Amino acid sequence: MSFTHPEDLFTETTDSPSAARPKILIVDDDQSLREFLEILLAKEGYSVCSAPSGQMALRLMDRENVSLVVSDVRMPGIDGMTLLKEIKAKHADVPVILITAFASLDTAMAAMKEGAWDYLTKPFRIEEIREVVEKALETRPKAQSFIRDTADKIYKLDNMLTKSPVMLKIFQLIPRIASSPSSVLISGESGTGKELAARAIHNLGVRKDKPFVVINCGGIPENLLESELFGHSRGAFTGADRKKQGLFAIADQGTIFLDEIGELPMTLQVKLLRVVQQKSFTSLGDTKEIKVDVRILAATNRDLEKEVIAGRFREDLYYRLNVIQIRMPPLRERPEDIPLMVQYFLDKYSKEQNKAVQGISSFAMEALQKYSFPGNVRELENIIERSVALATSNLLLPESLSLAEFKQQKTAESSPFSYEPCLGPEGLDLEQFLSHIEKTLLKKALERTNGVKTEAAGILGLNFRSFRYRLSKYAL
Ligand SMILES: Nc1ncnc2c1ncn2[C@@H]1O[C@H](COP(=O)(O)OP(=O)(O)OP(=O)(O)O)[C@@H](O)[C@H]1O
Ligand SMILES: [Mg+2]
Repeated sequence: MSFTHPEDLFTETTDSPSAARPKILIVDDDQSLREFLEILLAKEGYSVCSAPSGQMALRLMDRENVSLVVSDVRMPGIDGMTLLKEIKAKHADVPVILITAFASLDTAMAAMKEGAWDYLTKPFRIEEIREVVEKALETRPKAQSFIRDTADKIYKLDNMLTKSPVMLKIFQLIPRIASSPSSVLISGESGTGKELAARAIHNLGVRKDKPFVVINCGGIPENLLESELFGHSRGAFTGADRKKQGLFAIADQGTIFLDEIGELPMTLQVKLLRVVQQKSFTSLGDTKEIKVDVRILAATNRDLEKEVIAGRFREDLYYRLNVIQIRMPPLRERPEDIPLMVQYFLDKYSKEQNKAVQGISSFAMEALQKYSFPGNVRELENIIERSVALATSNLLLPESLSLAEFKQQKTAESSPFSYEPCLGPEGLDLEQFLSHIEKTLLKKALERTNGVKTEAAGILGLNFRSFRYRLSKYAL
């Protein structure tokens, strides 16, 4: 297995040939509307092309460097929704704006879910289309910056990496979420990258230069949590010997990330609901309303809907927070990310710990790919960090991973060290005996790695030089 360091792959592209004059493709079976849009957008200075059907549009996109598609939803043959799916599959970075005759929320939601950039209802105002087009093109370079074609596609967004199409969908969603003011609920098992996603939403939005405040609602005792979030005045309770600013006030103009929102006590849920609805709160021991402008992102590893049904979480708050939802897929749903993350963390920790670990033996990789990762990326990261610390050669070996499941496999097999040589009645020639064992194991290691010496050395816990020395000693 060979990897390029991910950093090398992700230089941003600014040399797009269409950067100066983006080309917009208009798709509509209605000729008059098509022409109307062509004239309107050409007047705005865009280069414009058009197609009367979805089929023609797709053919055109294979030939032309299209920056944006504006398409009608209802068309004979390939309709707008199908066209959208095809474009997302083949030209993932091209934003699509859909136009429909009916203000149907269902279609709008379905379109957004499939990755439409935006959605316009006929009749639309000229100003409206102008604005939406401008916004889509303006945000394009940002949304595009994570896409970088390599032989082995790796996608990057903010501090997140992936190779998985499932995660790619989320990567495509985040820049658009970032440019909206709505609350977001990020769900997912522990260690799936919920906080990274929250940071990406903040970093890619207009609030990026303002504070990003994190609070773990499950990590603070209930009686302290309120003053932590909303602050308190002097003398608000015994021990409050001075006024304290709460995190909502600190996060003003910025973003607050409420981690483990499911742990928020009922009393504070009421107070939070007020912040969400009225953008104001009072601090403990005070009656003065404090106005804030804070974007709220929340995360949970529980099924919040179940918590609502069980009466532990307020339904109204749930709907307010859940305006946009992201579900971070667990690592077992994106196995293609395991080798990528392994190499990424290997590079990170060998640099950090000043070690020359460069790779991982194919056996160790196999063990990782079979492992279920209940703790997801965070667990994988911990495993690699620990293995790098323990590594004695430039390859990570199965032994140093210390996976719970792998250990079980190992003990089921017989360990080479459980073999007990017998001395025999006449004794033995120790040198000769050890040479024999050494030679046999060198050969076996080479067989197992198909002659790849660095890897064979790794399996035997030897560095390459000492492995090579032994090979020459036995003329292998
Ligand atoms: N896509 C990714 N690319 C790079 N690193 C990642 C990715 N996803 C997660 N990580 C790493 O995994 C670790 C866990 O991520 P994060 O803290 O965002 O997860 P979480 O879902 O908030 O976890 P928890 O539920 O335990 O709080 C972090 O150290 C992060 O660097
Ligand atoms: Mg977290």
